[in-house]
Amino acid sequence: MRHQQDRHKRGTFLLFALAVVLLVTGCTSDFNALNSVTDRGDKIAWLTNLSFILSFIVMGMVFVLLIFALIRFRSGAPSTREGNTRLEIIWTALPALLLIVLFVFTVRTVINTSDNHAEGADVLHVTITGKQWWWNVEYPDLGITTANVLHLPVDRPVAITLKSTDVIHSLWIPEIGWKLDNIPGKTNTLNFTLHQTGEFDGACAEFCGVQHAWMRIKLYAQPGDAFSSWANAAAGNAIPPDSQILQNGKSVFLTQSCASCHTIKGVSEVTNVGPDLTHFASREFIGGGVVENNDANLEAWLRDPSAIKPGVLMPGFNNLPDEEIKALLAYLRSLK
Ligand code: CUA
Repeated sequence: MRHQQDRHKRGTFLLFALAVVLLVTGCTSDFNALNSVTDRGDKIAWLTNLSFILSFIVMGMVFVLLIFALIRFRSGAPSTREGNTRLEIIWTALPALLLIVLFVFTVRTVINTSDNHAEGADVLHVTITGKQWWWNVEYPDLGITTANVLHLPVDRPVAITLKSTDVIHSLWIPEIGWKLDNIPGKTNTLNFTLHQTGEFDGACAEFCGVQHAWMRIKLYAQPGDAFSSWANAAAGNAIPPDSQILQNGKSVFLTQSCASCHTIKGVSEVTNVGPDLTHFASREFIGGGVVENNDANLEAWLRDPSAIKPGVLMPGFNNLPDEEIKALLAYLRSLK
């Protein structure tokens, strides 16, 4: 009997420990929609926090009453009584009042965040096109095209036009506080102003095929001057090769099929098939975030991208002689 009780206690403890571990694991995520860094996101986070606080108050009251009832009536059930008008009015009116408060604040938040018209000379325009499985990021007024990274200045209104050339994707960077779909044949606009610098991870939030999970984007929220210097560098042509191996790499890029899908500004024609590689070496990740951008990963990627990201459109170049792969690798890694 004693043993059974011990086992029961141990089982309960293990379950409790497991629940704690699972909860804590959930907390380590880099994605945090309540840690808003935009004006619009703040309003939504405020409403969410209000709902949480009210819910916790209600939960606290229920627990207190429950514990009170358990202690007060531990020796047996109380004798049944026929109704209590005053209590019934209270427990109907209080929840109704709570719902009215939440309704009013919800409608207010919807109105305050529904302004979707970013106009004026100061607005920074960006077009983000979802593709299977990466993001094409363009700054039409600045002449910049890049992929899977979103550099934005703080304290300046931003208007992001969302498009798709294949299936439905959804741009979700939780700290922006707003998620919007990229829909083929339709454009959506996402307007906000960042008020905090930092680096924030984003992902596609609409199932779009086998590599949906590896369609990541990184937001760099920068001070105005840091953004300007990034933009100046990003708008320029690719750095010309300054050694024989880099020159060879550039030739491999042009003579193999690379240039029919990828643009290197100043080197090859503009195409819209694969990610722009003009400043490829300045990006932290390759393959839509699937691996870090370093020599070993890039070589593996060039030889057989499907082994790293099954389903990817890019063919492998394992048939190239080793020295050509090495030259191409060195050239791409030089494109800061
Ligand atoms: Cu794109 Cu999921």
